[in-house]
Amino acid sequence: MQTDGIFQSTDKAMTRVGLFYFWHEPDYTLDMTPPKILITRLIPDLGLNLVKEHFPTLEVFTADLPPTREQLLEKVRGVDGLLCLLTERIDTELMDAIGPQVKVISSMSVGVDHIDLAEATKRGIPIGNTPGVLTDATADQAFALLLAAARRITEAERFLRAGKWITWCPSLFLGADLHGATLGIVGFGRIGQAVAKRAQGFGLRVIYHDPTAQPAFGSQPAELDDLLRESDFVSIHVPLTQKTKHLVDAEFLSKMKSNAVLVNTARGGVVDQTALYVALKSKRIFAAALDVTDPEPLPMDSPLLELENCIIVPHLGSASKWTRDQMSLLAAQNLIAGLNGERLPHCANPDVYR
Ligand code: DGY
Repeated sequence: MQTDGIFQSTDKAMTRVGLFYFWHEPDYTLDMTPPKILITRLIPDLGLNLVKEHFPTLEVFTADLPPTREQLLEKVRGVDGLLCLLTERIDTELMDAIGPQVKVISSMSVGVDHIDLAEATKRGIPIGNTPGVLTDATADQAFALLLAAARRITEAERFLRAGKWITWCPSLFLGADLHGATLGIVGFGRIGQAVAKRAQGFGLRVIYHDPTAQPAFGSQPAELDDLLRESDFVSIHVPLTQKTKHLVDAEFLSKMKSNAVLVNTARGGVVDQTALYVALKSKRIFAAALDVTDPEPLPMDSPLLELENCIIVPHLGSASKWTRDQMSLLAAQNLIAGLNGERLPHCANPDVYR
């Protein structure tokens, strides 16, 4: 199926290019000037090769680290198509640097909080993203973190590696049970629902807060305060917007149960980390497990790193081979469509077409 996806897309575009050449022969020299393309990091071959098949001339920033802001502002000048990652801030300054000729900005991410969507829409720039393909991987990661925090896996492993394990002990690293407990999901879109689906198999009762979503996978809607009061696990699945910035603040945490575990695989900015530190340190809540932080990477002097009851991993929600391949493919398809003047298959600012 994945292969079909590639070939269908490639065939279509190749036919399109062939037709274009045939029917527009007088304009060929003019129109076939290759577009200027920049890809800001080495992405998986699946996506990269698709772009190369369509547009052999492109520049890829191949360093291990993202381009610095200065490098990025320099490199984007005059590009027709930009394929970026969530590590690049695409704001007014950057759009000014690119120039008005740009036809598409395609991000290899589902989240687009690193992009000023309103500004892009104002300028008529379609923004591509990669929804759907990372739903399962991210839900798996949320569950892995939930289990790890509930059963104190990382803490126990550190203990063992430090040579502290003397013998089996009835009270060693007692954690929380999942069966019969309540999971509260904040944000019930694709990923939130995929988490609910997994929760059914663990015997969890699931409630969710999302005024725009319908119940699914045996879940029930709840007001946020009720969800916080009733949940043993709270998993965050909202995008980062002005409205959700620091949604998880001191007040939110104060409403959670003292045995509760907070899981965040959405965006670091949704959580006020200072308030979280206080809640974890004072055992106001039992534990937290974070796939995302603000900033990323989390500075090594962050007090959160001192806490045994806080698991932190480096933004790995979508980090499976298949998922990253598919993300690169969608990002490539968006880029190619934009460069060909077509509607992006996955557009984060559809208002741009109104
Ligand atoms: C995304 O695509 O927005 C994810 O956060 C990447 O893991």
